[in-house]
Amino acid sequence: MSIEKCRIIHLPRVQDPRGNLTFIEGDKHVPFDIKRVYYLYDVPGGADRGGHAHKELQQLIIAMSGSFDIVLDDGFGKWRFHLNRSYYGLYISSMVWRELDNFSSGSVCMVLASTYYEESDYYRNHEEFIEAVKKKDNGSSVS
Ligand code: TYD
Repeated sequence: MSIEKCRIIHLPRVQDPRGNLTFIEGDKHVPFDIKRVYYLYDVPGGADRGGHAHKELQQLIIAMSGSFDIVLDDGFGKWRFHLNRSYYGLYISSMVWRELDNFSSGSVCMVLASTYYEESDYYRNHEEFIEAVKKKDNGSSVS
């Protein structure tokens, strides 16, 4: 199941009285080569983001400022994560539906992505996603 690959990654922290520092190296701290970075900001209270899954894309999501929740769904179960530290990242593998909500005011959500933006990589319809998950599951159980 795809969700078993998802996990919180503890990023390196260089603590300093002048201010702390965290760094991320592709293929080292995240299990992919970083091809793209994007971020969500100025998110109004009560807004939801996400609401899709990806065929191939892998991501690491970090709360650079403030906090928000991420609900992951691989078609078999759902897990809610609360992100509120800039040295924790949530790794999301391919074939996992995600919803982001509960954004605190002024929060910034940074996403490191394994591929360039490609609309054809998205499942934006939950039913289609579940169908695809079932197909994959049947395929892997037939030897
Ligand atoms: P989307 O991935 O649906 O946002 P979220 O998951 O955060 O709710 O993207 C929203 C819009 O932005 C969509 O029209 C595609 C566009 N977009 C890009 O052009 N490039 C990108 O790298 C991303 C992530 C989105």
